[in-house]
Amino acid sequence: MKPATPCYIVYEDRLRSNLELIDSVRKRAGVDIIMAFKANALWRTFPIIREYGFGFTASSLNELRLGYEELGVKGHSYCPAYTESTIGDYIAMSSHITFNSIPQLERFGRRVCEAGVSAGLRVNPECSVIETDIYNPALPGSRFGVTAPMLPDELPESLEGLHFHALCESDSHDLERVLEAFERQFGHLLPRMKWVNMGGGHLMTRSGYDIDHLIGLLRGFKERYPHIEVYLEPGSAFTWRTGDLEVSVVDVVDNQNVKTAIIDASFACHMPDCLEMPYKPAISESVDQAPGRPVYRMGGNSCLSGDFVGDWAFEHELKEGDRLTFEDMNHYTTVKTNMFNGIAHPSIYLCRKDGSYELLRKFDYDDYKNRMS
Ligand SMILES: Cc1ncc(COP(=O)(O)O)c(C=O)c1O
Repeated sequence: MKPATPCYIVYEDRLRSNLELIDSVRKRAGVDIIMAFKANALWRTFPIIREYGFGFTASSLNELRLGYEELGVKGHSYCPAYTESTIGDYIAMSSHITFNSIPQLERFGRRVCEAGVSAGLRVNPECSVIETDIYNPALPGSRFGVTAPMLPDELPESLEGLHFHALCESDSHDLERVLEAFERQFGHLLPRMKWVNMGGGHLMTRSGYDIDHLIGLLRGFKERYPHIEVYLEPGSAFTWRTGDLEVSVVDVVDNQNVKTAIIDASFACHMPDCLEMPYKPAISESVDQAPGRPVYRMGGNSCLSGDFVGDWAFEHELKEGDRLTFEDMNHYTTVKTNMFNGIAHPSIYLCRKDGSYELLRKFDYDDYKNRMS
């Protein structure tokens, strides 16, 4: 029987098929692909990920510790700024540390290198391929990475790698443009580097992604720079379409011909990217709009006026108790939820290959209370 709503359900078979595809890409292209925890940190699913031997990249000490403890390997770290109080822990749990600026590299690079950790520098190829500004690290004035004009005449000797990240839910043709800009501006540094990290945003598990083209690009790069180890660090691609949020309708409000189905969840709390990006998620039970079909807004059970998204059509009028499935609510969702308004937080289940449901986490009043004092 399906678990009670509201609940996130992550599907083992869908996760495995993503892992298998990414595994085949890394083998065919001869590169390493590591998982970005910012998109997914459901650590109770890590035993599945461990079977495939994927490493990880962390953007904070908490992510780094989680990977170190739960995946059992050292991570690749990139954080916009390290401090005297954090760098020691980064060194202890990282195999690679990427710095965001020259002053950061000069301040900590030698210490990192002497501890046997490989130091990298994030560069910014200033090639914008992302339309949504909030996800575009290559905008003019961006705080991310060193642009070509910002490069000093000489780079510290401790530097072994370059990192760029300019994609988001992108295809291989976007990578081709960014790679071309990267090589044009930073190619002269590559003979002295050991590795290049091409960041995240490679959505290779989306249907229609041109895998062969990606592999061709990566192989071509490796032919041009055979001494360089190549890393890709996607997040979304690992957990793309691996889980849903299941909710129930708890009331229907009809105001000036706008019908809102209030659900036992919230966009602001449990599907934040819908408001932030913004985008309209798919609801499995909805149908195309057509004359005669009732149309509804979905309203969150919070007091935020903007906590709604619309509109969806259904075969029949919605009523209290109807169960609805918001699709693709794992990556950048389960990691970004919050307890605003003290709203009941959806439980998290893993649906095993045999169809059984394993409860990964249930949230209660103590979770709400313990976030504050
Ligand atoms: C530095 C860096 N690496 C990797 C990623 C993962 O990107 P995605 O989940 O889009 O693949 C991000 C996302 O913001 C990032 O900032």
